[in-house]
Amino acid sequence: MKRAVYPGSFDPVTFGHLDVIKRASEVFDVLIVSVLNNKVKTPLFSVEERVKILKEATKDIPNVQVDSFTGLLINYARENDIHVAVRGLRAITDFEYELQIAQTNRKLSDGKLDTIFLTTSLEYAYLSSSSVKEIASFGGDISQCVPEFVAKLIYEKYHIL
Ligand code: PNS
Repeated sequence: MKRAVYPGSFDPVTFGHLDVIKRASEVFDVLIVSVLNNKVKTPLFSVEERVKILKEATKDIPNVQVDSFTGLLINYARENDIHVAVRGLRAITDFEYELQIAQTNRKLSDGKLDTIFLTTSLEYAYLSSSSVKEIASFGGDISQCVPEFVAKLIYEKYHIL
């Protein structure tokens, strides 16, 4: 069984993430989408809410599981016997950041955790959770960015609707 983890903040999941999830689920037998419980960032959605949203958004993909983790990705991967992390690349600006994380993880794990990149589909290349939140916070239209039920939850957080 080829298993991989797709780690991220997913605050909240966008169509860009879902595109990566769908395509990665076709490459691996099991894809575990895991939400980082990052104590430093102040998220819009709690980890529990993000996990719930991801479960709903991926419910039609049978080989996708949703989980969360705290701390280093390499420790989470080791504990779950996972040797591949998946990340999406939107643009060259992502590349520098992602390259550094991937190389750090490979080094820290003694080569046991490698990273595979999928290039985000062009129609989602501009998308990010932060821009979605900013647009929504001003009452803008995010219907092209996230599933309808997610848009509703975001507007609720901003007391819009
Ligand atoms: O969606 P994001 O915020 O771009 O995801 C970043 C993430 C979660 C993949 C990355 O920050 C991460 O794996 N953090 C866990 C801590 C860790 O393992 N750091 C070492 C790599 S520098």
